[in-house]
Amino acid sequence: MTRLYINIDHVATVRQARRTDEPDPVRAAVLAELGGADGITIHLREDRRHIQDRDVRLLAETVRTGINFELAASAPVVELAVELAPMQATLVPEKREEVTTEGGLDLGSPIVRRAVGESLRRLQAQAVRTSLFVDPDREALDRSAELGADAVELHTGEYANAAGDAEKGAELARLADAAVHAHALGLAVHAGHGLTYENVVPVAALAHVEELNIGHSVVSRSIFTGMERAVREMKEIVLRAPERVSRPGRWSPPLGF
Ligand code: PXP
Repeated sequence: MTRLYINIDHVATVRQARRTDEPDPVRAAVLAELGGADGITIHLREDRRHIQDRDVRLLAETVRTGINFELAASAPVVELAVELAPMQATLVPEKREEVTTEGGLDLGSPIVRRAVGESLRRLQAQAVRTSLFVDPDREALDRSAELGADAVELHTGEYANAAGDAEKGAELARLADAAVHAHALGLAVHAGHGLTYENVVPVAALAHVEELNIGHSVVSRSIFTGMERAVREMKEIVLRAPERVSRPGRWSPPLGF
């Protein structure tokens, strides 16, 4: 059964818009768990634009499912992850100017490989399950396996942004091939970025994909429905995805509620 991890960064984005104390991502995590989230994902960015150190520390004490801590492979934030030893850490690339994470880790670069390899070793020494956010390319997956990651998170942004059925189909085929290849290498397969109530079904139904990380779409819906319900609705779509895909006529767009 595919696990649904809810990324609550954008609850903190709203709070930081006023530099105040609401809405609190710690409360959002409680409601996401009540709605059926299998885990809580947070990204502590170097520029602290949304999640703050205080959030990470409080969530580490209060989350009952498990935390997937997204972080860059850079010194101070890796120190914090090593100290808190979350259930899982996902290493991601980070550029100061980007609006959100753009693309997977550049594992073709020896500098990136060295930083990632060192971070993986430090996290794994604390029994943290490790994942690398990568593009759905065989070479990136081969390198992830060589580096000794436990899992890869396939970047679904290109799929989400694809215009038209042909382009979407091609991106989905890339993801399907990457999932099979990663699994054959012994890597657990996660996926995320840009997934919505409308586009998640084909990805959630892919063979070997065992975890999805979804943030923006769920936080957006939660403004209107509340967090608990927004998560429950996404969870139902994800859990029913294999059944819907095996009977395609039943799920043709629109997919949501
Ligand atoms: N996975 C990773 C590695 C991410 O960086 C993000 C965005 O923070 C997500 C998943 C979630 O993406 P979205 O907010 O578009 O659902």
